Amino acid sequence: MTNPQTNQQLFDSARDLMPGGVNSPVRAFGSVGGTPAFMVSAEGPYLTDAEGTQYVDLVGSWGPALLGHKPPQVIEAVHAAVDAGLGFGTSHPAETRLAELVRSRVQDEAGRGAEMIRMVSTGTEATMTAIRLARGATGRNLVIKFAGCYHGHSDGLLAAAGSGVATLGLPGSAGVTEAQASETIVIEYNDRAALEQVFAERGDDVAAVITEATPANMGVVPPGEGFNAFIREITSRHGALMIFDEVMTGFRITEAGYWGASGRVEGWLPDLFTFGKVIGGGLPTAAVAGRREIMEHLAPTGPVYHAGTLSGNPVAMAAGVATLEHATAEVYQHIDRQADVVASALGEALDAAGVDHSIQKVGSLFSVAFGTSAAGVSNYAQAQAQEAFRYGPFFHAMLEAGVYLPPSVFEAWFLSAAHDDAAVQRILDALPKAAEAAAAA
Ligand SMILES: Cc1ncc(COP(=O)(O)O)c(C=O)c1O
Repeated sequence: MTNPQTNQQLFDSARDLMPGGVNSPVRAFGSVGGTPAFMVSAEGPYLTDAEGTQYVDLVGSWGPALLGHKPPQVIEAVHAAVDAGLGFGTSHPAETRLAELVRSRVQDEAGRGAEMIRMVSTGTEATMTAIRLARGATGRNLVIKFAGCYHGHSDGLLAAAGSGVATLGLPGSAGVTEAQASETIVIEYNDRAALEQVFAERGDDVAAVITEATPANMGVVPPGEGFNAFIREITSRHGALMIFDEVMTGFRITEAGYWGASGRVEGWLPDLFTFGKVIGGGLPTAAVAGRREIMEHLAPTGPVYHAGTLSGNPVAMAAGVATLEHATAEVYQHIDRQADVVASALGEALDAAGVDHSIQKVGSLFSVAFGTSAAGVSNYAQAQAQEAFRYGPFFHAMLEAGVYLPPSVFEAWFLSAAHDDAAVQRILDALPKAAEAAAAA
C-alpha cells in the first residue's frame, strides 16, 4: 500500500480498519455525504487537513475548544504536566485545584451548587454515574429523559436520543435490553403536561429527571419560559432528583454554564450537574457534581460504585485547570459577540436566498433548522420534521469555501475566543453561496 495522502485515501484505509472509518459516527459525514476531511493540525480558529487545506473551524472539537485550538497557556500547562509524569494512579494536587475551580464557578451566594465533584473521563461516564447515584440515593429505579436530548451512549439513556442517534434517524440503539429501556421514560421536551402525567402515575418510582441544560443535540432548542424551574419544582415535590446535564453548556454559555444564566438568576438549583468538554480543555475529562449529601453516596464514602483508571488524570487536569483559569469574562463576551455576528449573517443570507428557516440560539450556541419558521422548533418532533435535506448542500458549499461546520444539522455551531474578525469574515463571505445551495436543494 502506498503512503496515503489524500482525504479519500485516508478514508479508504480507515474504513478498512474501523467501522465506518471513524471512532464516533457523525464524523463519517453520513448525513451530508462526501469524504470526511482528515485533519492533521489545529491552531486558533483553524483546522488543516491532510491535503493542506485550511478551514475556519465551527466544531471546536465538539465543544472543548472554548479558547480556540492550541491556546498557548493550556499547551504550556500540559507540557509541564507531561514532564512531571503521564499519570500516577494516586491522588494529586491538580484534581483538587480543578474541583475548586468548578465549585467556585457553579455556586449560589449560600455556597450551594457544585459542592462536591467526582472527576470521570467522558460525558457518557458522567451522566451514567449521575443516574446510578440518583438511583442509589433515592432507592428508586425510573429515569425520565426528554426526546432529542443526548446524554452520551450509556444503555438507559439512548432512547430517542439526539446527536448522532438523531443524525442517523435511529429510534434508539440495538443491544439495549428491554429491561434497561423500560426503566427510562421518554417525553417530549418542553411538555409540562406530559411530565405532570408521568409523575401523577409513577411519581413514587422516579429516581431522577435528566435534562440537557438547554438542548443542543437536536439542534439548539431553548427551554420554554420557566421549564427548567418547573422540572426543579416537580422533582422536589415527588422526592426525585434533577440532573442538569451541562456537558455541552458547562463553562461555555457563561462562566457558570447555562445554570449561571438561569438557575442562579431565578433562584433554583439542580441536585446534580454533569460536565464535560470545556472542563477538560481538549483532553478526556468530565465530572459529576452536586449536593454534598448526595455526592457522599459515591464510593468510598457511600455504597454507589464508580471508579476509573484515568479519572483525574494529571495531564487532563492540567488542561482543565489552565482552560478554566483563562476563561475570563472577556472570553465569554467575545464569543457571545462573534456568535451574534455569525448567527445574524446566517439568517440574512438564508433570507436573501429565500430559504425558510429558524436560527435556534441560546447564548453563544446556535444552529439552523430549515423549513421551520411557521411552527418553530421547541421539541424533537419539530426538529425531525425540518427540511434536513437542505443541510448537505449548504454544508458542502461552506466546506468548499474553507469553513468547517458540524457535519449534521442536529449539531450546534461552536465559536471560540480565537475566532477573530478575520476568521469570522471568512464565514460571512462563504454564507451567501451556501444559502443559495440550500435554496436549490
Ligand atoms: C449534553 C451532553 N451530554 C453528554 C454527552 C456525552 O459526552 P461524551 O461524548 O464525552 O461521552 C454529550 C456529548 O456530546 C452531550 O452533548
